[in-house]
Amino acid sequence: MAESSDLRLTKMPLNNRGGHIPALGFGTLIPDAAVTVTATRDALEAGFRHFDCAERYRNEREVGEALQAGIAAGGIAREDIFVTTKLWNSNHRPERVEPAFGASLDRLRLRYLDLYLIHTPFAFQPGDEQDPRDQNGNVLYDNGVTLLDTWRAMEALVDGGRCRAIGLSDISLNQLLPIYESARIKPAVVQVEAHPYLPETELLEFCKEKGIVLLAFAPLGHGMRPGLLEDPVISAIAVRVGKTPAQVLLAWAVQRGTALLTTPKSAARARENFDISTLPEDAIDEINSIQIRQRLNDVVNTGSPGFIPRVKSA
Ligand SMILES: NC(=O)c1ccc[n+]([C@@H]2O[C@H](COP(=O)([O-])OP(=O)(O)OC[C@H]3O[C@@H](n4cnc5c(N)ncnc54)[C@H](OP(=O)(O)O)[C@@H]3O)[C@@H](O)[C@H]2O)c1
Repeated sequence: MAESSDLRLTKMPLNNRGGHIPALGFGTLIPDAAVTVTATRDALEAGFRHFDCAERYRNEREVGEALQAGIAAGGIAREDIFVTTKLWNSNHRPERVEPAFGASLDRLRLRYLDLYLIHTPFAFQPGDEQDPRDQNGNVLYDNGVTLLDTWRAMEALVDGGRCRAIGLSDISLNQLLPIYESARIKPAVVQVEAHPYLPETELLEFCKEKGIVLLAFAPLGHGMRPGLLEDPVISAIAVRVGKTPAQVLLAWAVQRGTALLTTPKSAARARENFDISTLPEDAIDEINSIQIRQRLNDVVNTGSPGFIPRVKSA
């Protein structure tokens, strides 16, 4: 699947003539607006060319600002970067999809989008409230729309020419199968949590068989400690190959055939996370044999985003 012998420059082809997605991606789930701008700029300077956004992150404007500035300053063409954003749960009704897409494009200051994802398979009460709740604090779901209804509206965006590829996020293999079967335009990408503690092997095998790219989020285990960055197997490999634990985890993800999203927030970490190189096969085997199984983000169960709280690094 990989196109380059330099792991950092790996790109993966998307189905339906959707272009190529850089395997190393930068995620913009960053609560602070000013940090969003500096971290996006630093990622672009370090070499990242895929930027993963979402209406739900409420910072598409800041990402757009940083990308436009970087493009202008760095001699980078729009075609050299790959931008993804996501349709939020409260916009699943077909008539809300195109307006939500257009609003994201405007905030990102883009004329076309490389990839648009349905953020989660859960439809919330339609409207501008992103987190609709009843008086008891329970999420208000929308039973009046199916995931296939929403997918049909996503297909229409590709037909319209301003969206090059479409996909799904936070979805299980069981939920993906019926969409895959019924889709006129097959999903190009599936974005899910994936790392050595949650390898999603069955989903990855299905995706490879069907030419779908699995885009892994939280490849560093969201930086949680204790966690992957301190795992003894990862740490020992890092010492052996002269790389950092983060670089080992990111190389593993690319070598097993996934694209990934990481979110370094400093220039030094952006350079570190981009500077990956191929691991020897025995290291890949060792990582594959880690037995710990742990999901870190609960969004797949409810549609409400959130990493499960644990002790985090300073
Ligand atoms: N579809 C979904 O529902 C969904 C859910 C979650 C995430 N995502 C996407 O996936 C992206 C990545 O997720 P993530 O934030 O969990 O990724 P991640 O890269 O696994 O974790 C980021 C955390 O790791 C730390 N970190 C980064 N580089 C490091 C390094 N070299 N050494 C040590 N620690 C390092 C960061 O610390 P500092 O903050 O100190 O830099 C941050 O706390 C998000 O931005 C978003 O685009 C999607």
